[in-house]
Amino acid sequence: MKFGDPVLEKKAAPVTEFDVDLRELLDDMFESMYAAHGVGLAAPQIGISRRIAVIDVTFKENPEQKLVLINPEIIHTEGRISQNEGCLSIPEFRENVTRPKKVTIRAQDAKGKFFERTGEELLARAFCHETDHLNGKLYISHISALKRDLMKRKIRKLMKAGEW
Ligand code: NI
Repeated sequence: MKFGDPVLEKKAAPVTEFDVDLRELLDDMFESMYAAHGVGLAAPQIGISRRIAVIDVTFKENPEQKLVLINPEIIHTEGRISQNEGCLSIPEFRENVTRPKKVTIRAQDAKGKFFERTGEELLARAFCHETDHLNGKLYISHISALKRDLMKRKIRKLMKAGEW
């Protein structure tokens, strides 16, 4: 789903059943994320308004870094850092976004077990970016109104041209 689809701006519903359907969905999500050369993907991005995200900031390099976040909550943040950020739902665009440097998240895994994980730099950024998705928020809500309006104008042009 690309920017403009309402599912991306809707708060996603919590997951309550940790069954085989969920595990199949997670496999699909990792597949879609890798196919799109992304390091994170949230369920609303594939049209499913549920609080589910997958992350792999090492892009297949380290299987231990393959993360499933179900019903994630950010419980602690530290510092600030501005870095270039993009989103698979807003292809071809990137902007600098200021985010916390260190983030601790609490989430459930594919089996429903709660865990906590602390990430820095790119992983911290991914925790924030994906959690935002589940709250119907895109990274462009963190940039200046001027930059955001410019971006939206460019996107509207692409939509008109049938290229979005
Ligand atoms: Ni995104």
